[in-house]
Amino acid sequence: MAYNLLKGKKGIIFGALDERSLGWKTALKCHEEGAQLVLTNAPVALRMGEINKLAEAVNAPVIGADVTNMDDLKNLFEGAMKHFGGGIDFILHSIGMSLNMRKGKSYTEIDYEWNKKTLDISAMSLHRVLRTAWDLDALNEGASVVALTYIAAQRVFPDYNEMADAKALLENVTRSFGYYYGLKKKVRVNTVSQSPTRTTAGSGVKGFDGFITYAEKMSPLGNASADECAGYCATLFSDLTKMVTMQNLFHDGGFSFTGVTEAVIEQMEK
Ligand SMILES: NC(=O)c1ccc[n+]([C@@H]2O[C@H](COP(=O)([O-])OP(=O)(O)OC[C@H]3O[C@@H](n4cnc5c(N)ncnc54)[C@H](O)[C@@H]3O)[C@@H](O)[C@H]2O)c1
Repeated sequence: MAYNLLKGKKGIIFGALDERSLGWKTALKCHEEGAQLVLTNAPVALRMGEINKLAEAVNAPVIGADVTNMDDLKNLFEGAMKHFGGGIDFILHSIGMSLNMRKGKSYTEIDYEWNKKTLDISAMSLHRVLRTAWDLDALNEGASVVALTYIAAQRVFPDYNEMADAKALLENVTRSFGYYYGLKKKVRVNTVSQSPTRTTAGSGVKGFDGFITYAEKMSPLGNASADECAGYCATLFSDLTKMVTMQNLFHDGGFSFTGVTEAVIEQMEK
């Protein structure tokens, strides 16, 4: 069911790789809620071609940008403003990549050059996005920016490796830039901390299948799905959440505040 929550709003969605992506689902949901969109992803991801299906479904142009390249980001924001004929009301940052995980290095043996790249793509990229918008004055008054994160920023999940550090940095950039952008233009910046979800990035985590089942048993509401994540993001882009900023918002069926559940105890007693 749609509520017209985003009628008249214009947004940029980063990170829709394929139909399982949280960015993909959020683009569909925002479109359903009445928003106009521009889609973007890294040139290498665009070459897969999947995003064109989404572009057609939500009637949006695709502008490629490697999120670690400031020229690409400037080109993206200028292109989006031209397309919309004005400023931007919301942005979804749905980007994550760990070079060390991809290359099978454990946390205690990470390669620092790869680590720099991981932190740049997965965390400082939010700063780069906000900085580009700031310099171009691309965001409208009261605009909303959401980045997706994971609870490994607060607690240890060993197989999440260097991404835990990246998410902690991402969440801090959210608070720091959120402060300045709030003062400047009432722009809101928040992170949504999502349940483990079967996507390309998610499935890259070692032991993911066992873990997703564990998280399901540890959450009173069960794991939050990608569609539900998209719905939550849409509410954060809407005018109903105007005073929410600099927050890390758990969207995890209660996992973050549950000590243990009967289901997990039963499993231990088997
Ligand atoms: N899937 C999960 O379990 C889960 C849980 C919590 C948070 N998240 C977060 O959600 C976000 C989206 O991940 P997903 O699970 O939808 O997986 P995904 O693999 O579909 O999306 C990750 C996206 O990052 C993009 N990307 C990588 N390098 C880039 C670059 N240099 N420039 C621009 N884009 C780049 C990829 O092309 C891809 O579209 C990530 O931040 C991820 O950490 C995922």
